[in-house]
Amino acid sequence: MARQLIAGNWKMNTMPDSAKALAGALAARVGADGAGLCDWLVCPPFPLIPLVAEALAGSAIAVGGQDCHDAEAGAHTGDTSAALLAGLGCRYVIVGHSERRADHGESDAQVRAKAQAVIAAGLVPIICVGETRAERDDGRAGAVIESQLRGSLPDDGEMVVAYEPVWAIGTGLTATPEDVRDVHASIHRLLGDTFGPEKAATMRILYGGSVKADNAAELLATAHVGGALVGGASLDAEAFWAIGSAACAAP
Ligand code: PGA
Repeated sequence: MARQLIAGNWKMNTMPDSAKALAGALAARVGADGAGLCDWLVCPPFPLIPLVAEALAGSAIAVGGQDCHDAEAGAHTGDTSAALLAGLGCRYVIVGHSERRADHGESDAQVRAKAQAVIAAGLVPIICVGETRAERDDGRAGAVIESQLRGSLPDDGEMVVAYEPVWAIGTGLTATPEDVRDVHASIHRLLGDTFGPEKAATMRILYGGSVKADNAAELLATAHVGGALVGGASLDAEAFWAIGSAACAAP
């Protein structure tokens, strides 16, 4: 049984002062007591990573990146490597978030290359997949998620998968516990087919999309849910704390 991972994706939010205040409030809230509840992670915008890492020093909260380039270094203006994120003290990197896939046209092959780069840098990728509303309404959610996973998963290494229905992100809508259970069970089966059942049993599958303090307990208690990827509610220390407090041992 792996401990659940509660990951905050701050997206393009916070400024130096507000990021420092948020990280400080979280560190104070989680303190020593929250350390045993779950694994905690926040992913701030790139330039704020050092100051957030400093504000979290000594706490149980890890820092991660929201994306990376698949190359180790080189002529890639505006990009950030997984090796640099490792050098800044990050432990995880989100790859293939639906906002990256939509805004930057990232393909499964690119997401896979990024995940491999994250693993090569000694970090853990959080590989995101999820269907749009139209794909769900057409009855294609399962096929879309399977195809994204088959194209995006790295060959091997430690990794986390995040199921985030695109229509649930930032909308206040969440998938029903039954849908989450079914999708997570099929992702778990696919991971078992790909990496073997022993490894799949240790792999965390996060749910993301409008996770809040008032729905976290139900979602986190659902079979095969290994944690949550939280956007909006991770910008509020009390709400994020409440979500982490709802975490339990992943089934
Ligand atoms: P949300 O975002 O919690 O604001 O819906 C989740 C995500 O995009 O990871």
